[in-house]
Amino acid sequence: MTIILPEPKTDSSFSLEQGLVRRRSTRQYVDGPLSLYIFYSWDEKKILKEEKSMIFRKSVYFVLLLAAAAILINLPPASHARGKLNPTPSDHEGPFYPVVRQQDEDHDLIHVDGRDQAAQGDILHLSGKVVNEDGQPFSQAVVEIWQTDPNGRYNDARDRSPGSRDPDFQYWGKALTREDGTYSFTTLVPGAYNPRPAHIHFKVWIDGEVRLTSQIYFKKKEVLNQPATPELQTVELQKNNAGEYEAFFQIVL
Ligand SMILES: [Fe+2]
Repeated sequence: MTIILPEPKTDSSFSLEQGLVRRRSTRQYVDGPLSLYIFYSWDEKKILKEEKSMIFRKSVYFVLLLAAAAILINLPPASHARGKLNPTPSDHEGPFYPVVRQQDEDHDLIHVDGRDQAAQGDILHLSGKVVNEDGQPFSQAVVEIWQTDPNGRYNDARDRSPGSRDPDFQYWGKALTREDGTYSFTTLVPGAYNPRPAHIHFKVWIDGEVRLTSQIYFKKKEVLNQPATPELQTVELQKNNAGEYEAFFQIVL
C-alpha cells in the first residue's frame, strides 16, 4: 500500500515542528500504516537530532570566529612581526603651520639673519635620522619644524595667547638630510600652552611631496601630571657639558 503524505501547511508562524514536517514530507512514499508509524517515529528523532547537532556546530563556529577576530585585532602590525621598524605615527598639523614665508628658513632657529642677539631660552640641539622601515636612510629629504618659543607662543598672528614673542627666535626652520639620512637643528626647548604638552611640529618632504606630518614630544619625568604622549613620538632631553639640551629623534617612513 502506498500513502501519499499531504503537503505541509505554511504560514507566517513557521516553527521548528513545522520545519520537521516540511523536511519529513520530502519522503512521500511509505509502505503500510505500521511502516508509516515507524518511519515517522524514526525520522522525526533523526531530524531533531540533526537539527540540534547543526545548531551546536553553528554555535561552535561562531565562537571560533569571535576568537579568531579577537586574536587578529590584538596582533602587532605585520611590519613589527617581521622585525621591521615601526613607522612614526602621523599627528595633527595644528592651526599654526606657517603660511607666510620668512627670510631666514635654515636649521639654526636661535639666530635670525640681520639680528645680533641669540634667542633667549634653553638651547636644544635636535638631531635625528630619516629612514624607511628597513632602516635605509633617506638622503636629500627636507625636515621642516615649527614650534612655540619658551613662553608657549607661535610666531603667527592667529595665535592670540598672551605674552610677548622673541624677535630673535626663528620659530620655523628646515634641514636637508645628509647621505646617511641624518638631520640637525639648533632651536629652543618649546614652552607648553594650555592644554597641550610641549611639542615640536614637523613635516618630512621627499621629492616635493609631504610624506609625514607629525609632532615630537618630550619626556619630563620631573613634571607631575604630564599628559601622556605617544611613545614613538617622545624624546628624552639630555643636558650636555655646556648646559644645553640634546635630543635624538628618528623618523621612520
Ligand atoms: Fe602646536
